[in-house]
Amino acid sequence: MAEDAILGYLAAAEEIPDSGQFASQHGLQHSEVVNVIKSLHGFRYIDAQDIKRESWVLTDEGKKYAAEGSPEVQLFLAVPQEGSISKDELQKKLQPSVFKIGCSQAGKNKWVDMGKQVSRKVQHVEDKVKDLLIRVQNGEEIGKDDVHSLKARKLIVAQTWKGYSVRKGPNYAPKRKKVATDLTRENLQRGDWKELEFKEYNFNAKGPPSESGHLHPLLKVKQQFKNIFVQMGFEEMPTNNFVESSFWNFDALFQPQQHPARDSHDTFFLEAPSTTRELPEDYVELVKRVHESGGYGSRGYMYDWKREEANKNLLRTHTTAVSTRMLYALAKQPFAPKRYFSIDRVFRNESVDRTHLAEFHQIEGLVCDRGLNLGDLIGVLDDFFSRLGMSKLRFKPAYNPYTEPSMEIFSYHEGLKKWVEIGNSGMFRPEMLLPMGFPEDVRVIAWGLSLERPTMILYGIDNIRDLFGHKVDLSLIKRNPICRIGLN
Ligand code: PHE
Repeated sequence: MAEDAILGYLAAAEEIPDSGQFASQHGLQHSEVVNVIKSLHGFRYIDAQDIKRESWVLTDEGKKYAAEGSPEVQLFLAVPQEGSISKDELQKKLQPSVFKIGCSQAGKNKWVDMGKQVSRKVQHVEDKVKDLLIRVQNGEEIGKDDVHSLKARKLIVAQTWKGYSVRKGPNYAPKRKKVATDLTRENLQRGDWKELEFKEYNFNAKGPPSESGHLHPLLKVKQQFKNIFVQMGFEEMPTNNFVESSFWNFDALFQPQQHPARDSHDTFFLEAPSTTRELPEDYVELVKRVHESGGYGSRGYMYDWKREEANKNLLRTHTTAVSTRMLYALAKQPFAPKRYFSIDRVFRNESVDRTHLAEFHQIEGLVCDRGLNLGDLIGVLDDFFSRLGMSKLRFKPAYNPYTEPSMEIFSYHEGLKKWVEIGNSGMFRPEMLLPMGFPEDVRVIAWGLSLERPTMILYGIDNIRDLFGHKVDLSLIKRNPICRIGLN
């Protein structure tokens, strides 16, 4: 065993000058000797000093010639002792590379006459290259000029060899003592702790990497969006309720009860509790009236509005439900302009594919003030998206039950070289704002977008299931880079 060999050797000798020689003298693998040296050094049985040596090893081509002979000698031997051989004939007898290199080297050495016919100029040659290669292979030293020429022919390459020279250390003993690493209950009971020799603390040992929490990419991107909203003077809305009543999710937004989004194909309704406990009755009455017969210059939807439909609990389909609650609360106060934002989860009964899940995160912003108009909306969107590095925007007329006018937002994607849809926006309708009790000249501009879309673009993820859900690779969570957006 390497350990006994090393400790035993040092009992009589001052030093092991070279671990490599030591290994070969004792028939040991150098790697094993090195491991033992490191371990003995750790316990200070020995002192070890690094040694580095440049050595030469054969390339694949070098190994081939060491076995088969150099190309020049192979070529020489293929030329007949007497007379000559045609160059074509000679070429057929040898491998193409051997022929090519052989011709040039044997010509240089003046061993053969190279013409259309090839003949020998000398009768006997020595394969010096092969001999040198074998010596290198055996770890023997060769002369500087020889090294140079073998290197030039790419038959050998330098390799750094690492080993140690070793001497006795402060704790040297010819045999390793078993040292205790722990003081156990048994040691105390038996009293043998008095005789035990304890292992020294190794203050240089590295501890295991500490486990810690990690931020999901969605959380990092969310933080960046939050920063932008806060820089723009927006306050965050409380979004801590996934369960919402149909009333706040749809009715208060002037979304009619027969609207297809209110179907169970699009929305998750709750089984228990299936209905909400309370709604603000006087406000419900005003909402019912605006749906049925309008008011505030509107004809309404002209249908029988049903309370049971409004009572149904659901998983909120958009964070606009939260915005609606906030606006309702705001309208109850003496009027003051506000900027609100939220970023949180919403749910839709969608079939899952590479870009859709049944739940995602919405980013929503709104500004409430007197006399706002479409120009203000465009201006705010321009400011908001410029901070994300998207300054080329286009707007397309769209439809939402609760906004008029409504606009889809498109941004020019430099990478994809096309316009991509990035969000939805609009001005909340008077049918939504006036029943809440806002003064008549108060307008609310608002917009929404998903958090997943920009996150996937920023982190180069093209399947949403790689970002969110039970199939996510945990190393994505542990190793994703920090997120800085809008720096360009
Ligand atoms: N609620 C809309 C959606 O779910 C987004 C939106 C918010 C649109 C505010 C207009 C105004 O897509």
